[in-house]
Amino acid sequence: MSQRPLTKDSQARTLRGWMLGLHATHIIDVGGRLGYFSALRQRAGRATAAELATAHNLDPWRTAVWCKAACTVGILRATDEIEDTSYSFAPFMDELLADNAPDLLTSHVLASLARDYPGYPEAFRTGATKTFHDHDEDFFAHQGRISALRAPLILAAARRLSGVEERLSAGGTIMDIGSGSGTVLVSFAEAFPGCQVIGIEPLPYFVHSSRQRLAERGLAQRVRVESVGGEGMDFERTADLITMVQVFHELPDTEKIAILRRCHHALKPGGSLLLVDRCAPESAHDIQDRRFSMSILEQWFEVTWGNIVNTRSEILAMLRQTGFSVSQENPDMVPTYWSFVADKS
Ligand SMILES: C[S@@+](CC[C@H](N)C(=O)[O-])C[C@H]1O[C@@H](n2cnc3c(N)ncnc32)[C@H](O)[C@@H]1O
Repeated sequence: MSQRPLTKDSQARTLRGWMLGLHATHIIDVGGRLGYFSALRQRAGRATAAELATAHNLDPWRTAVWCKAACTVGILRATDEIEDTSYSFAPFMDELLADNAPDLLTSHVLASLARDYPGYPEAFRTGATKTFHDHDEDFFAHQGRISALRAPLILAAARRLSGVEERLSAGGTIMDIGSGSGTVLVSFAEAFPGCQVIGIEPLPYFVHSSRQRLAERGLAQRVRVESVGGEGMDFERTADLITMVQVFHELPDTEKIAILRRCHHALKPGGSLLLVDRCAPESAHDIQDRRFSMSILEQWFEVTWGNIVNTRSEILAMLRQTGFSVSQENPDMVPTYWSFVADKS
């Protein structure tokens, strides 16, 4: 496909587009948090700014400003009525910005993460870190909601692995390292009513909220969450399957090998580790490859957290060094992630 030549004007438009995107993300985030989208839905998709303000007892003038800004970035449309202007969703935006839709949840996570940026210049000078765990509950809660959308994909990927369906159906054990809000634990426990499930999670907020989620679903007897990091887990020949989803790059770099060894130790012979994470680009060619865009951005917004997103060669080398044989390495198993299936013989 031929590409249009870049001109100074087209490059300027690109820059302005990114800057508009910053505003758009916050307009969407604020709209979701204040309930404007749901209020619009409750009024059959059309409302005046005054009606939206009344619905949630919000300032009418600020609400009118938000409505116009939402039109400007293309998520709402305005129509002049006899008395007032009314607002409705632009095409498809109702569905895309539904309460649990990925795009709305992503805007909440991004807005939450963007609070780190003012500290970047100083952190780049001093090397100061603010870890995943140093973030606030708003960020953890939205992480959990996004994780719920990903969990069915992890279950589906695991089911396709050789022997997993049989082992878990026959009462086997699955462990999830860095189990976060517990969505993967719930998915496996509900899909395999006879299996045992163990979550390993060091963050007290997630330990508490995932135990609560499990209790609400009546799964507390069969699923336990250990309040410990991968560094502290100590299991021998226990698990048929270990999952590690969006966690490897969160592990302290100096502990990655030791934690993989503990995973190897925790698996029964013939068991597998399903490691799903981002992979850093290995070359200039990869940097231009869209499949690496999310991993590059993830390393960017976690650059002050002390996290290192490894390349696929580095991950493969660490898996082999710790005794695994890698039977699959797949960029399509879980979209936008790289998945590794590492087996214990
Ligand atoms: C991005 S979240 C992913 C959570 C979950 N796996 C999911 O898919 O939603 C990263 C998780 O890794 C956990 N984590 C961080 N350091 C860890 C460590 N040393 N050992 C185990 N888990 C860790 C965090 O507490 C958090 O729950």
